[in-house]
Amino acid sequence: MSRIQRIKGFADLFPPESTAFTYMETVAREVFGAYGCQEVRIPILERTELFARSIGEETDVVQKEMYTFTDRKGRSLTLRPEATAGVLRAFIEAGGHEGVTKLFTCGPMFRYERPQKGRMRQFHQLDVEVLGAKTPQADAEVILMLWTFLERLQVVDLTLEINSLGCPACRPAFHAALRSFLEGIDLASLCEDCQRRTTTNPLRVLDCKVPTCRTATVNAPRLLDHLCPECATHFAQVRAILQAAAVPATINHRLVRGLDYYQRTTFEILSGAIGAQSAVAGGGRYDGLVAALGGPDVPGIGFACGMERLALLLPPHRPQPMDFYLAVLDAAALDTALLVGQTLRRHGFRGETAFEAKSPKAHLRQANKLGVKTCLLLGEDEMARGVIVVKDMATGVQTTVAQDDLAQALGFRTA
Ligand code: HAM
Repeated sequence: MSRIQRIKGFADLFPPESTAFTYMETVAREVFGAYGCQEVRIPILERTELFARSIGEETDVVQKEMYTFTDRKGRSLTLRPEATAGVLRAFIEAGGHEGVTKLFTCGPMFRYERPQKGRMRQFHQLDVEVLGAKTPQADAEVILMLWTFLERLQVVDLTLEINSLGCPACRPAFHAALRSFLEGIDLASLCEDCQRRTTTNPLRVLDCKVPTCRTATVNAPRLLDHLCPECATHFAQVRAILQAAAVPATINHRLVRGLDYYQRTTFEILSGAIGAQSAVAGGGRYDGLVAALGGPDVPGIGFACGMERLALLLPPHRPQPMDFYLAVLDAAALDTALLVGQTLRRHGFRGETAFEAKSPKAHLRQANKLGVKTCLLLGEDEMARGVIVVKDMATGVQTTVAQDDLAQALGFRTA
């Protein structure tokens, strides 16, 4: 029979790779939880309109990268390309919008991009959204939360880039300045997408990675020079807090992000060690988005970390070794071994029980492979005497212990 293969750009997360993902999620829950975030789980499939309305019709994500299809009733549905829109939809539907709500979610996202190192069609994000706070302190805390998470993972040599996109009060003036700048340059120096963007979404031109577009726009007007006094103060305060917290942030005037919902603070975390797809995390403020999705006028800010890219940067992770391997020397001891293993786990020990009787040599090889601290050996002789042989794998010392006293002999954990 021919083998059915996975789809291009979709990866299996198999051990040991999958353990790195579990580890990242565990640390994320700990760190984000320490800031008051609560976990939400939302559907992977949403109405296409949710993304068109939030991410923006003129973005690459909506224009070219969504997995969209019609269901059996002819409705247009899309596999989520990111989590923010879905989290906000869920927040609106859940009600109870007073005060500050801090949410965390994680899981697979889908974008039809050209796969390469660190860029997948199915990838995973750790996502935080903080709703109901509009002060610069909220922006700073969200960035510090992300930074603390990356520190806890011991990911090094990262840079934090930051910018402000202004607000509906000051953005029009910047748009006008940018449009008139773009009108003044030779259109042929821009890529095909940017030629279209000059009229449909000029901000996107600043974000384009094509070298000729970058050269043509080196002297483009800068957002920070066009901020209204409120946005300028907000940005200055965010930067001052980051500085006081000793988190170095570099201004990147081109940091407009690939999604249309941002206002004011935007930020990205980059690594020089993972190739062209260097953005490990990105986020920003999106006041107005909850209202645009039919909810109350609640401000928000958040970020998402790309787990595949983070995984490339993690120091080697050694999973905690198991406590025991229970070796069975005679088939008649298999049932007892299983029950002994069961009792040990009830006492908090972690280990594996052999499902087949084998020679001591074969079992010790397996115990070594698993890296356990203790190998327990059970044969007919031990069964008859109600004992078990305990071999310390580090010292090689072997003792015989009554089966009833085993948990105590191994250091007795929880009762
Ligand atoms: P984003 O910048 O589109 O932002 O994605 C966040 C992160 O997801 C990126 O920095 C990258 O690490 C990872 N990522 C994106 N696309 C891919 C891909 N094709 N393959 C592998 N990794 C990828 C957002 O998605 C926003 N929703 C973030 C946000 C949350 N803003 C406010 N709240």
